[in-house]
Amino acid sequence: MEFWEKGIESTLRSLLESSTDTSIVAVDLDQRVRLWNRGAERVLGYSADEVLGRKLDFLYPEDEVASRKIEEIRRKMLKGETFSGEVREVRKDGKILRIYLTVTPLRDERGEVVGFLGIGHDLTERAELQEKILHAKRELQAMFDAIPDIIFMRDHDLRIIRANNAAFDYFGGRGILWTPCYRLRGFPSRCPDCPKDEAIRIKKAAPFEFEDPSRGRIFRVYQYPVLEPDGGLYAVIVLMQDVTEAKLMQEKQMELELRLIQESRLSAVGMLASGIAHNINNPLTSIMGRAQLLLMEHPEIEEELSPILHQAKQIEAIVRNLTYKTRQEQSRQKQRLDLNHLLRQELEFLKADLDFKHKVEKEYDFDEDLPSIWGVYSDFSQTILNIIRNALDAMYRSERKKLTVRTYRDEDHIYIEIGDTGCGIPDDVLPHIFEPFFTTKPLAGQAKGDEPTGTGLGLSTCRQILKEYGAEISVRSKLGEGTTFTVKVPIAPNIFPEE
Ligand SMILES: Nc1ncnc2c1ncn2[C@@H]1O[C@H](COP(=O)(O)OP(=O)(O)OP(=O)(O)O)[C@@H](O)[C@H]1O
Ligand SMILES: [Mg+2]
Repeated sequence: MEFWEKGIESTLRSLLESSTDTSIVAVDLDQRVRLWNRGAERVLGYSADEVLGRKLDFLYPEDEVASRKIEEIRRKMLKGETFSGEVREVRKDGKILRIYLTVTPLRDERGEVVGFLGIGHDLTERAELQEKILHAKRELQAMFDAIPDIIFMRDHDLRIIRANNAAFDYFGGRGILWTPCYRLRGFPSRCPDCPKDEAIRIKKAAPFEFEDPSRGRIFRVYQYPVLEPDGGLYAVIVLMQDVTEAKLMQEKQMELELRLIQESRLSAVGMLASGIAHNINNPLTSIMGRAQLLLMEHPEIEEELSPILHQAKQIEAIVRNLTYKTRQEQSRQKQRLDLNHLLRQELEFLKADLDFKHKVEKEYDFDEDLPSIWGVYSDFSQTILNIIRNALDAMYRSERKKLTVRTYRDEDHIYIEIGDTGCGIPDDVLPHIFEPFFTTKPLAGQAKGDEPTGTGLGLSTCRQILKEYGAEISVRSKLGEGTTFTVKVPIAPNIFPEE
């Protein structure tokens, strides 16, 4: 009985006094310290001797928030209530601590309030740790958000569990969190080409390309598996890099390279041709001069001499034609172009090929009403020559070789149509004929006999060259019967300025 009245009290008292994690402080109505346990010594830095009898003010930070808090506690105490909550207290070395404090009034035997007892738990360390974790988390998120590529993390159920700002911006907000990743691509269930398993298998990024046609963007997508310590899959990080511009650049570069190849091919041929023409001209002039001299001196052999002179004049015309053509081809200047004239010139030039001259039936039908256009001679001559050469190549094995060239116009366009009676183009080949380096012909040096050869650059360069004029090339073909290419040139943007 004695114990339950006095003994437990002293046990509790010694327990409270000796507790080192919990600070226990009792003050009288004047706020003077009457009890200062070991915990208070440890947490607050003052020894009991230093503070017993002192007013408690030294514990309060000097700011308005703290004053308000003290006022609140005081009010509760006067009403005889208990206070529980977080407060700040100043440690002996000046550091501000965060304390979870419970204060209750102390009463004497008659029930009168004689002071207050405060029990405090130091939250500072935990709060600091929490703050550090929060800071690290914010830093990580900021880093994540600073990356302009789209990044998100999905769990093994394919749900998006984390994403950066770029992902929210692109996919329309934070609503993507917890939705399955295949929804981003508009699939109702797992994407057919889901590379998740592959990513796990090779335990590293498994990149693939993803095109978003609705917004015209192309992404290179990398997947990084995040593994548990036991090797199981925790999540997959998906990084989507927008490569649209890079792709366009690549295409542009390819275009430029093609153009360069074409132009260097052109200028090499041109230089060679003008060199040959020049070298032929000299002996030719001398032959013609001497033949004319002979004719003047010996009019009696005119019958023998005339054919010589006639043939020499033919050569002269061919050389002139060649010189004209190469001069035109060397120029990148825009000029007034009569497409009918240009076509005739090209067809004339082709007559140097004896097979073309003698074995190919020709049907030409030119609309003499075509307006002149403003363009670079070689852009059109090369295009037309490429198409005609393809037509001749296609008829290499054909029994009947007929080339049809037609020009006509409507209100807005000029049309150049080139048809052949060649092998035709199979359906599975047709979609590829404008691709650079696509060819069904052997490369030069690998052909049998005089079989036509190719590099597969003809049509792709034609299309590239004519793009600048807004012109299009279309094709109709029937296997075994022949093919017709149509070049459609819009008049308005290309019309010769004075017409
Ligand atoms: N008139 C045609 N008839 C049948 N096939 C054609 C015709 N024109 C083009 N093709 C097909 O299209 C392919 C590509 O033509 P393209 O002109 O681009 O290259 P190429 O003629 O093979 O080589 P290059 O023109 O560089 O010498 C040809 O290899 C051929 O298979
Ligand atoms: Mg070709």
